[in-house]
Amino acid sequence: MSNQVLDAMKNRFTTRSFESQKVNSEDLNLICQAGLQSPSAVNRQPWKIIAVNNSDLIAELEGSAMNKLSSDSQYEMFYKNIQKRKEAGQAATVFYNTPCMIYIFIDPVKGTSLESAERDCGIVCENITLAAESLGYGTCINGMAKLPFDTEKEEYFRSKLQIPEGYQFGVAVLVGKTKSGKEPHPTLENKLTIIE
Ligand SMILES: Cc1cc2nc3c(=O)[nH]c(=O)nc-3n(C[C@H](O)[C@H](O)[C@H](O)COP(=O)(O)O)c2cc1C
Repeated sequence: MSNQVLDAMKNRFTTRSFESQKVNSEDLNLICQAGLQSPSAVNRQPWKIIAVNNSDLIAELEGSAMNKLSSDSQYEMFYKNIQKRKEAGQAATVFYNTPCMIYIFIDPVKGTSLESAERDCGIVCENITLAAESLGYGTCINGMAKLPFDTEKEEYFRSKLQIPEGYQFGVAVLVGKTKSGKEPHPTLENKLTIIE
C-alpha cells in the first residue's frame, strides 16, 4: 500500500550535512503552514514559528552557539563530538551548514501550562519535519539551536528574530537539501504493545 504520510515517516532520518542550496519560498511557506496546522490542547496554539532563511543570520547563530559549546563545560561531550566530526572530515558545525532554520518558540502563559505548551511544540516540530520530508528536504530537529539564547547575545537575537515578549525556546528544525544521509533508525518492536 502506498501512503505518502506513512512513507515520509518511514523514510525520514536526521540530516547532518546540508547542501548550500536555499529552501525556495513556496516550499518554505508550505512547510511552515504544516506547522500552523498542528493541533494543540484547547486549540490554544501557544507557539510562534520563526523561519530563518538567511545565511548571514544563520552564520551569526552558528558562531554564537559554537562559542557557547566550546566555553561551557556542561557541553563538553557535544563539543568533543563536533571535534571528532572535524577529524573525520565532516562539517564541524552545530547546524551542519543548513540554509534554513525553523524556530518554534512557545508561549507558556497562553498554554494550560509550560508542559502542555511543550507538548504542543513537539507536534508542530513533527508536522514541519514530515512536511519538509514529503517535499524532498532533509531535516534535523535541533535542541542546540537554543544555545545562542543562552549567551550575552540573547537580547540581540531575540530582536533579530522578532521573538514576541515572554516566549521561550521550544525547539528548531534545520531544513535543506541533504548532502549525505543515513538509514532511518531501526525501530524497537519491544517498545510497542497492542492490546486487542
Ligand atoms: C527534541 C530533539 C532534539 C534534537 N536535537 C538535536 C541536536 O541538537 N543536534 C543533532 O544533531 N540532532 C538532534 N536531534 C536528532 C536526534 O539525535 C535523532 O532524531 C536521533 O538520533 C534519531 O535519529 P534519526 O532522526 O535519524 O532517526 C534531536 C532530536 C529531537 C527529537
